[in-house]
Amino acid sequence: MEATNRAIKSLAVMCSGGDSPGMNSAVRSVVRTAIGLGIEVFGIYHGYSGLLEGNIHKMGLSSVSNILQRGGTILDTSRCLEFHTPEIRQEAAHILARKHIDALVVIGGNGSFAGAMALHQEHQIPIIGIPGTIDNDIAGTEYTIGFNTAVQTAVNAVDNIRDTASAHSRSFLIEVMGRTASSIALQVGICTGAEYVVLSNHEVDYEQLVADITHGVARGKTSSIIIVAEGEKSGLSYQIKEELSNRYQIDVHVCILGHIQRGGRPTVLDRYLASSMGYAAVNALCGGYQSHVTAFNKGAIEMVPLERCLGKREEITGPEMELLRALAI
Ligand code: F6P
Repeated sequence: MEATNRAIKSLAVMCSGGDSPGMNSAVRSVVRTAIGLGIEVFGIYHGYSGLLEGNIHKMGLSSVSNILQRGGTILDTSRCLEFHTPEIRQEAAHILARKHIDALVVIGGNGSFAGAMALHQEHQIPIIGIPGTIDNDIAGTEYTIGFNTAVQTAVNAVDNIRDTASAHSRSFLIEVMGRTASSIALQVGICTGAEYVVLSNHEVDYEQLVADITHGVARGKTSSIIIVAEGEKSGLSYQIKEELSNRYQIDVHVCILGHIQRGGRPTVLDRYLASSMGYAAVNALCGGYQSHVTAFNKGAIEMVPLERCLGKREEITGPEMELLRALAI
C-alpha cells in the first residue's frame, strides 16, 4: 500500500462510462460512509465531462435517500473522450483543488479507470475505483457491479422468447450485450438452456451450430435458442441469420436485447456488493490508499492497485462452454 500522511477532509464521487444497475447503491454507500466519518462529500454529475464543467454539488444524507434500489445513476454519467488529453486533466485537477476536494471515488469500467490512473499519476489525487459495468470484463476483479442484474434481465427476456419459440417450433438468435466480453452470453446461455452460444472474438462455427440445431429438432425439441455475444458492434445476429438462411436454408428469428439489459432494479447481489464496495472505498481513502480498486476476488473485497485493473480481464470460456454443451444435448 502507498501511504499518505494527508487526512481526507472532503471527497467527491462520480459515475463514468456506461451506467450499470447498482451504481446508485454504491453512491449511497460512499456518501453515507463518508458523512458518518465526518468527511464532506460532493457528487460530480455527468462523469468526467461534468467534472470539467464544474458540475459538482455537495451531498447530504438525504440526497441519497431511496436510491439504493434504482437502476441508472442519480449522478448521471458520460463517456468523455476529451479526458485522454493531459491539458484537460490538468484543468480537472484545478477544478478539484478550487473546490478543496482531497480525493475521488470513480465508479465505472476500464476507460474510467484509465482516466483515474492518469489523473492520479499527474496530480497525485488519491483515487479509489469501484468496478461498475454490466460487462464483467475488468482485469484484477472477478466481479463488476451490474453484471448479475444484466444477466437476470436477459434471462427473463429469453425465458419469454422461449415460450413463443416453442409454441411455433422456431429458432431464435438472441443477442446480448457485453461488447468484446462473452460473460453475459455464457451465463445467460447456461441459465436459459440455450442450444448454442456464439462467443465474442470467435469465428462462428456454422457447421457446429447447424448440427446442434438439426440434432435438437431430430430428437424432438420444439425450439432452439442461440445466444450471440454482440462483440465490438451490435448487429452480428443479422449476419448469422443471413448465412443460416442462404447457406443452410435454416430460418431463424433475431432479437437484440440491447439497453434493456443496462437498466432496472439491481439484484440483491449487486446491491450488496455495491454497498460493501462503497464502504470499502471510503475506508481505503482514510487508511491511506492512493490509487486502488475495490475488487471482488475469491469471495471477498480486496484493494487491488488501479494499474492492475486498466485492461480487460482474460476470459476463460472453456469450462462454461463445456457445461452448456453437456446440458444442451
Ligand atoms: O460497456 C457496457 C455496454 O453496455 C456494453 O455492453 C455495450 O456494448 C455498450 O456499453 C453500449 O454502449 P452505449 O450505451 O454507449 O451505446
